Amino acid sequence: MEDIISYIENNQSNYIEELKEFLKIPSISTSTEHKIDIEKAAEFVKDKLKIAGMSHVEIFKTEGHPLGYGEWLGAPGKPTILIYGHYDVQPVDPIELWNSPPFEPIVKDGKIFARGSTDDKGQMYMHIKSVEAFFKMEGSLPLNVKFLIEGEEEIGSQNLEIFINNNTELLKCDAVLISDTALYDEGVPTLTYGLRGMTYMEVELSGPKRDLHSGSFGGAVGNPVNILTNLISKLRDKNGRITIPHFYDDVLKLTKKEKANITKLKFSDKKFAKEVGVAALEGEKGYSTLERIWARPTLDCNGIFGGFTEKGAKTIIPSKATAKISMRLVSNQDSKKIAKLFTKYFKSIVPKSVKVKISNLHGGEPVLIPLDNPATVAAAKSMEKAFGKKIVFIREGGSIPIVSVFSKKLKAPPILMGLGLNSENLHSPNEHFNLKHFQLGIKSSAYFIKEFSI
Ligand code: BES
Ligand code: MN
Ligand code: MN
Repeated sequence: MEDIISYIENNQSNYIEELKEFLKIPSISTSTEHKIDIEKAAEFVKDKLKIAGMSHVEIFKTEGHPLGYGEWLGAPGKPTILIYGHYDVQPVDPIELWNSPPFEPIVKDGKIFARGSTDDKGQMYMHIKSVEAFFKMEGSLPLNVKFLIEGEEEIGSQNLEIFINNNTELLKCDAVLISDTALYDEGVPTLTYGLRGMTYMEVELSGPKRDLHSGSFGGAVGNPVNILTNLISKLRDKNGRITIPHFYDDVLKLTKKEKANITKLKFSDKKFAKEVGVAALEGEKGYSTLERIWARPTLDCNGIFGGFTEKGAKTIIPSKATAKISMRLVSNQDSKKIAKLFTKYFKSIVPKSVKVKISNLHGGEPVLIPLDNPATVAAAKSMEKAFGKKIVFIREGGSIPIVSVFSKKLKAPPILMGLGLNSENLHSPNEHFNLKHFQLGIKSSAYFIKEFSI
């Protein structure tokens, strides 16, 4: 392994230059304007997989964005790992808050700044480089590898789910290795064993058939914006609990062992509040911050619009109002069941003065990964070797919808070996990735390939 590790160290600057090329592609999945860039990013992945040593590479078309696939199955009798990641990125707005253009990557203070640097281009690229290092130094891998890199993670992975359902034989594996989560803290080797799920809803209220003069009509006709805000406020009570009937029915409690583990982790509410720039924290009564984020479901309004939102003042009763409402779910909640419960409850509280349209935009299931499988044990050892420190197990508040599909359909344990940091501005202006972690990730990946092959 020593030759491989020093090869990785010696090639760091090449890796960074290649990553820059990848980060220059504005592969934003949510907007149709970027279709060409999405294709370019998929091509980039395919080319790099080929160069890394995959014996077969391919781009699979889907109804949506293409999938980059690569495999090397030259170690018969040895385990097979499937490496998953995503090449799509979030939109860049508000663009004026970026200190440097989002698709012109720069390195500053040991960090690379660009949209997608930590989520997830920089992280998925680590595995391509670790595999390549094996081929360069040893001419082969000690186990079989498949890569599956998608372009729709940030918009719900619906087409990937269809692809997995239709290709379980192609994707057959013994573990799914994923780097798309965060370390507990800088320099702390971390494995994530829980992700929250998601139900994303949009509600639209329609009132009068046109915007009305608020003097001639106000007071006598229901205002959809007023009504919508009032309804949203009814979705949570004063203790921060969600009021939708049966919402909590399937929520698993933290085990004693998990609680003890959380207590052991160093965590400062004060530091956390300061990092996000708020004077005080807020959340469901009776739970600590980490418990609230990792093990409790939430309901949030992501955006609300309707009526007059431009500069200045205009006096109207708006005709329509819309809100985007998402719920983070925990095991064993089911995203479709929650969508139904939400819809039923919301309809029941809407007054007659407005019409309501409710749509379910996307969803994904929560995951809890048992820690006693050989892949997780090997992953823990590998990260400990790379970092020279003891592993920490955490849950995560974010979601990666496809992970539950991997466990259910492929029956292989997911390994969430994330190297990001929650402070790296993912989904925000000035996203960045710590280059020390980039290198530690390549090493962890290489150690894992070795460790899991034995
Ligand atoms: N990589 C993130 C998930 C994540 C976020 C992991 C924070 C660790 C820390 C992923 O790309 C993501 O943003 N997921 C979305 C999924 C959603 C669109 C269904 C999320 O969590 O909002
Ligand atoms: Mn991601
Ligand atoms: Mn993301």
